[in-house]
Amino acid sequence: MTSYSFLRAAFSVIFAVTYVFANDTLSFPQGFLLGTATSAYQIEGGWNINGKGESVWDRWTHDNPNLILDHSNGDVACDSYHKYKEDVQLLKDMEVDFYRFSVSWTRILPTGYPNVINQDGINYYKNLINELLANNIEPFITLYHWDHPEYLDKMGGWTNSLMVEWISNYARVVFKELGPKVKYFTTINEPADVCQGVATDKVAPGKNLGSPGKYLCMHNILKAHAKIYHIYQTEFRKQQKGQVGIVISCPGAFPKTPNDTAAVDAIFQFVCGWVAHPIFSKTGDYPEIIKAHIADNSKLDGYPASLLPTFSPKWVQYIKGSADFFGLNHYTSKLVETVPRVEGERWYDYSGVKQTIDPSWPKSAADWLRVVPDGLRQVINLISKQYDRPPIFVMENGFADECCTSDSSRISYLRSYMKAMLSAIYEDGCNVKSYTAWSLLDNFEWADGYKVRFGLVNVDFTNPNRTRTPKLSMNWYKTVIKTRRIDSIFESPDVVNIP
Ligand SMILES: *[C@@H]1O[C@H](CO)[C@@H](O)[C@H](O)[C@H]1NC(C)=O
Ligand SMILES: *[C@@H]1O[C@H](CO)[C@@H](O)[C@H](O)[C@H]1NC(C)=O
Repeated sequence: MTSYSFLRAAFSVIFAVTYVFANDTLSFPQGFLLGTATSAYQIEGGWNINGKGESVWDRWTHDNPNLILDHSNGDVACDSYHKYKEDVQLLKDMEVDFYRFSVSWTRILPTGYPNVINQDGINYYKNLINELLANNIEPFITLYHWDHPEYLDKMGGWTNSLMVEWISNYARVVFKELGPKVKYFTTINEPADVCQGVATDKVAPGKNLGSPGKYLCMHNILKAHAKIYHIYQTEFRKQQKGQVGIVISCPGAFPKTPNDTAAVDAIFQFVCGWVAHPIFSKTGDYPEIIKAHIADNSKLDGYPASLLPTFSPKWVQYIKGSADFFGLNHYTSKLVETVPRVEGERWYDYSGVKQTIDPSWPKSAADWLRVVPDGLRQVINLISKQYDRPPIFVMENGFADECCTSDSSRISYLRSYMKAMLSAIYEDGCNVKSYTAWSLLDNFEWADGYKVRFGLVNVDFTNPNRTRTPKLSMNWYKTVIKTRRIDSIFESPDVVNIP
């Protein structure tokens, strides 16, 4: 090597290093997966055709239109049952690495049991998967996104421990039929939110059983998740070589006063750790703080035993480690403060933490969703620290508005959250593998009906064709995927407040 070429080589190394340091924090790591997501009830429609059975969300919206903001339901939704090829074309246009969608239990098993397998339902998902693969998009299946069979719910649903067997039998059918072409599965989407449907009468199935029902529901969900994981492990993994995780909703939390750092830890355990600790911690089982608080407060309320059910040591071991990755849903944060138990109040779900919102946080169209990007970095760090750096797949993150295709607020939100996530990767060394923008389409947003919108693509719900129109955010995301960067030229002005 001449001294000249040595010099040139040295300069190019210096240049490369400088380039990397100057730009890396806005680029995605090599192999990082970018995608988008939907769920069956929110987009498919075709609620009772070609053999599909009734789910709790079918029943709930039909019986309680008054509990849906615009009195709507998912009978037709985005009509993706008929228009899935159009959906895949949108995904192809964005060149996403993967598409996360959920399978409707009652489309495949109309009775809830595998005594009847509805071939039309199997075909629908096989066609969707083939269409995705033909367009170079990895299918990412959610087994259960809240729409279990109405019939099984009548027999108790998540309050019946037999639900563990029922959902396992359904999962086995999905693994057998769809698994040969699918590498990524998640079991249950947002268990704590599922159990809101047991605790309250605000979302399906609306059992209104309060905290006792809520804790029983989670107990059965954790067992069900683990059982599904072990079924995959023993019966399918060798041939299919896929991964199975669970999707947990973990909001951020910031101390209301500098003294409230204990409240940050406590609320993380009560909301996220309630699901995550039994699966991802070294010891397994519920977090100590939950066991202690609920035991104390159940006693004060006069119950003979804690309202938090107990896992046998065998179940603790069976649930512990039952995930290949941590699926994280994250949208927003809360301010938290430690508060004392009020004498005479029934507080058997006592966390000792009061949650509020900082009024200065930018709003969205959903009252629960304020824009706090640092919250994502915080929860990724907490998960990494608490559970020894599991691979984290961000499975949902998105912004709610009520409008239009020129959705610069959504771009601003997505970019700021992705930036916070990249800080967690580059500055904090967390092990994040994927990012998922919720959602591909404007869709049926549960109790908010079609009023609150999360889509990268607008859907005209007044047109029987359910016409899809890409929003600015879809084109922005497309560029992000192409360049593997959240480029500053797309930096929008601050999030616009929606009154
Ligand atoms: C924080 O705690 C200290 C010590 O207990 C107390 O003196 C102080 O007033 C507290 N500050 C706030 C903002 O509550
Ligand atoms: C729906 O699509 C069909 C076929 O493309 C078209 O002929 C029809 O005009 C459309 N209907 C509406 C209301 O846009």
